[in-house]
Amino acid sequence: MSTTAKPASPSKSDAAASFAKGLEGVIAGETAICSVDQGKLIYRGYEIHDLAAHATFEQTAFLILEGHKPTDAELKRFKGELVAERALPEPVIQFLLTSGPMLKSGTAVPMDILRTAVSILGNLDKDSQDNSAAANLRKAKRLLAKTPTIIGHMQNVIDGKDLIDRKTGGDANLTFAGNLLYLMTGNKPNKDFEHVIDVSLILYAEHDLNASTFTTRVIAGTLSDMHGAVTGGIAALKGPLHGGANEMAMEMLREIMKDVGEKGIGTKAVDDWMQNAFDTKRKLMGFGHRVYKNGDHRAPILHKLGRALAEKDTKNPGGHAAVKWFQLGEQVQKIMLDKKNIHPNVDFPCGLTYFTMGIPVPQYTPIFVASRMSGWTAHISEQHANNRIIRPLSLYTGPAEMKWNG
Ligand code: COA
Repeated sequence: MSTTAKPASPSKSDAAASFAKGLEGVIAGETAICSVDQGKLIYRGYEIHDLAAHATFEQTAFLILEGHKPTDAELKRFKGELVAERALPEPVIQFLLTSGPMLKSGTAVPMDILRTAVSILGNLDKDSQDNSAAANLRKAKRLLAKTPTIIGHMQNVIDGKDLIDRKTGGDANLTFAGNLLYLMTGNKPNKDFEHVIDVSLILYAEHDLNASTFTTRVIAGTLSDMHGAVTGGIAALKGPLHGGANEMAMEMLREIMKDVGEKGIGTKAVDDWMQNAFDTKRKLMGFGHRVYKNGDHRAPILHKLGRALAEKDTKNPGGHAAVKWFQLGEQVQKIMLDKKNIHPNVDFPCGLTYFTMGIPVPQYTPIFVASRMSGWTAHISEQHANNRIIRPLSLYTGPAEMKWNG
């Protein structure tokens, strides 16, 4: 056995000098997948406005997972692989069929059901224990293909309907976005809605070391498996400070609308509501960001599309007069910017936009999962391909050493 001393890690007191609560400003890893910066948001070299305007979600997911812009033949192959993997295995269907009472009683919300369903998928996947690059890519595509089916079937259970296309996981002629809408409702999707959902999925697909992706990398860094890492990612995304904010932003707007009434929109009543929120130090959901202090690149893209949808048809499937919600949202945004200099993040227009389409609020964050699955699984594969366990230090704040016996 060698007795050569190992080089020492940096001492704890040296490390303490760079302590940053919440890891703010700390570079905690390398990635070739995405760059999040106040200047630009880039997925593998392509800027987010460019992707939102010119790519589809399937193209974006291919880019993230396979590392380059797909050729026509590659895209055709990728779409076929996703369609072929949409159907759910019977044990997951059986679990979803039992989820109604859990959802009804409130012991579970859709994000919890989705988390467990993904975990069961892992127990059934023939590649589950194989962390090779090829197996990881196969698993990533299965997870991506099956997540909308889990969401759709779960919504069917909530609505007391038979599961739509239980044997196939949807209509092979529909896009990823279109099929997601179809599975939830049973109606062939409105083309405008399908397009806006598709763009929202592009915007949500990837965002470097956000809390849930970091979680997946920490889990993968122990050489644990992809499904386990994604299960952890879903749990992290659920929180209202992260992905759960798209639901909470809409709930907050509903609360304001209830308190001020429709007639209160555009009046001082909204300013008063906001002032009260500031005075009571309330967090306003869908605002602020750890990285983007001068605005989230994704928010105006989605706001514009969502508002146009609301203006085009105020008698939409959800039955909402959607424009008034955007007017309220814009007033809230202005007050937040004027008084606190805090910008909306993507979750704020997302809440308004999904509401305009009549999507049930508790499914907003699961839809975020359907998209972010591409980013998470790419990061897990990247971690496995060049791994070092992620194990930071902590600053001890407990009592000084004491003797147990005296
Ligand atoms: N509502 C009210 N105040 C907010 C706020 C919000 N949404 N976001 C930030 N602030 C305040 C903070 O309380 C803090 O005030 P303080 O200095 O008096 O304590 C100040 O702005 C700076 O906060 P910051 O350091 O920028 O926040 P963070 O980086 O620790 O947290 C978020 C970032 C996203 C977690 C935080 O902005 C937040 O909780 N937002 C609401 C949830 C949300 O929309 N999450 C989705 C993120 S994409």
